[in-house]
Amino acid sequence: MKAVLITEPGPPAVLKIGEVLEPQPAEGELLIQVKATSLNRADLLQRRGIYPPPAGTRADIPGLEFSGTVLESREPDCRFKPGDRVMGLLPGEGYAELVVTPAVTVMPVPPNLSFEEAAAVPEVFATAYDALFRQVGLKEGERLLIHAVGSGVGTAAVQLSREAGITMFGTAGSNEKLSKATELGLDVGINYHTTDFVETVLHQTSNAGVDAILDLVGASNWEGNLKVLRPTGRMIIIGLVSGSKVEADLSVILRKRLRIMGSVLRFRTLAEKAQLTHLMIENVLPLFEQRRLTPVIDRVYPWQEVSAAHSYMEENRNFGKVVLAGRW
Ligand SMILES: NC(=O)c1ccc[n+]([C@@H]2O[C@H](COP(=O)([O-])OP(=O)(O)OC[C@H]3O[C@@H](n4cnc5c(N)ncnc54)[C@H](OP(=O)(O)O)[C@@H]3O)[C@@H](O)[C@H]2O)c1
Repeated sequence: MKAVLITEPGPPAVLKIGEVLEPQPAEGELLIQVKATSLNRADLLQRRGIYPPPAGTRADIPGLEFSGTVLESREPDCRFKPGDRVMGLLPGEGYAELVVTPAVTVMPVPPNLSFEEAAAVPEVFATAYDALFRQVGLKEGERLLIHAVGSGVGTAAVQLSREAGITMFGTAGSNEKLSKATELGLDVGINYHTTDFVETVLHQTSNAGVDAILDLVGASNWEGNLKVLRPTGRMIIIGLVSGSKVEADLSVILRKRLRIMGSVLRFRTLAEKAQLTHLMIENVLPLFEQRRLTPVIDRVYPWQEVSAAHSYMEENRNFGKVVLAGRW
């Protein structure tokens, strides 16, 4: 089969389409014909050789999610049969014609979504849903600050928070991204190049601050985040695009009784991923069918233009997801 290969660690040009052996499904797994996948920030790091996948997953084929059709099922419960339209999370290897994956981490594609749209759902909606509602425990009426609100995960977080009745502040690097995020439900957009998010959030909340923060950016926001969290506020850090090293005044965390969490999906156990998949099917996918949630796609690239797609994301140009699809 064909797959996009990381021929050596390096810039987007190291990605080439090549031939690899077809994967074989084991007991409990499905063999899937991939129709589309989408890029995640982690793919860029993996391409540069600094984010290896979990053991047992090929390091030279990126891809954390897929949409496609079932070709073969070795699942005893027969929840899925050949021909079914499915989508799901992967630990890697999604930039390929075929993938095998445990059936317990597979979701049906909502009937109103195309394969391209479906490929933009699993990673960002599972990440945002898990972080905001299972870990931070957001409640209706709370105030949330989302950093990198125009990212794939950010655009999922805005929509899920809107549906939950949350008041949202969000940062991004351009007014264009902020105005698109506002269309999705963001209440207050802050361009971090021109405006200090701490001042804006404190001003807009009469110095009360926010109940929670979803931080996809990391180091550069650390100090400001501690300032804008209200006493007993919660913060979850799930991305480190600005770096991971900070100098911390731990006394603020004590005095304000803050709860600071971190999370990553890719390295969770199969049982944890299966549980999250189940919760997505129960709680999130119906909102797509009701057209209350939408996959936000910036661009769809053909597989042959995968290097251009990586460059586009690396230049921070995308609002929402970048999808790979089409004929090989
Ligand atoms: N922990 C997990 O399980 C998990 C899962 C998925 C994703 N993530 C993380 O979540 C983040 C978003 O992922 P994604 O795939 O949705 O990414 P994405 O669509 O590529 O968006 C990332 C955005 O971050 C902003 N950014 C980049 N460098 C920045 C900097 N130095 N300071 C401030 N903002 C910066 C850029 O937007 P601006 O134009 O606004 O600067 C960029 O478009 C990434 O950090 C990723 O690693 C974590």
